[in-house]
Amino acid sequence: MVITRHAEALAVLADTRYIPPPVRQDAPEGTLAWLRARTSRFSTGEAHARRRRRLEELLAAVDPDALRDAAEKETRERDGRWEGVPVTVLGHALGIHDAGLAAAVRAAAPGYLSGEETPEADAAVRDLLAIVTGADAVARITLLLQAHDATEGLIRNTLRRTRPGEAVTEALECTLKADPPLTVTRRLDRETGDEVRIDLVRANQDGEPHLTFGAGVRPCPAGRHATALAAGVVAGVHGR
Ligand code: HEM
Repeated sequence: MVITRHAEALAVLADTRYIPPPVRQDAPEGTLAWLRARTSRFSTGEAHARRRRRLEELLAAVDPDALRDAAEKETRERDGRWEGVPVTVLGHALGIHDAGLAAAVRAAAPGYLSGEETPEADAAVRDLLAIVTGADAVARITLLLQAHDATEGLIRNTLRRTRPGEAVTEALECTLKADPPLTVTRRLDRETGDEVRIDLVRANQDGEPHLTFGAGVRPCPAGRHATALAAGVVAGVHGR
């Protein structure tokens, strides 16, 4: 089933009958599948609530305005070559300074979202677990993997629609509503086993507030951080 109406999308996203498609729980330690089985994004119930709370605590310690300024500065210093800037800046804010971080996140992010297990994705997860250590390692890796593709997509789509001199905040708001980086999110109906696809682009056109950062039980906890990173990068590219 595909949901395209705003009100129906909100109802599904708020109902715990609809869960993220389950991930396997038996993968060997340190692999991509092992990581996915430990993240908020792919868990339900009490485990989801607990893991999500920890992510929110980590994010609460990160100031969006500081992310924006750091992203703009880093983009200017790289002469506008902004790919990798969002994750590098967020990594610094989470206390991770290894120069190999952005490459490892870039290599692991597609498999993290899709679940496609490849030797390359497993190797990237191993690299991440070597770079990010300590009690919160999985939580901090989750934030970086969630941040990567969506934030770079938001920046790419915004840059396509704007010219130097245009107001960055308005351009970002337009992109978020009309041209979101993440166009579909999926759920499983736990009563029938049916897959439900929520078409975020069409749902956005059908209602006032956009659903680009999700809604209901598991909205993106980092909308302000993502928008700040994107605003900094776009300002840095245009202000060169
Ligand atoms: C700093 C950058 C970002 C971080 C750290 C981040 C983090 C996260 C996390 C941890 C979740 C899972 C929440 C949970 O398990 O309850 C999530 C979900 C989500 N994020 Fe983000 N995110 C970022 C950027 C973005 C961007 C740029 C977009 C889109 C413009 C986005 C859209 C979403 C959506 C739609 C969901 C919900 C997915 C669903 O319910 O199926 N995120 N994000």
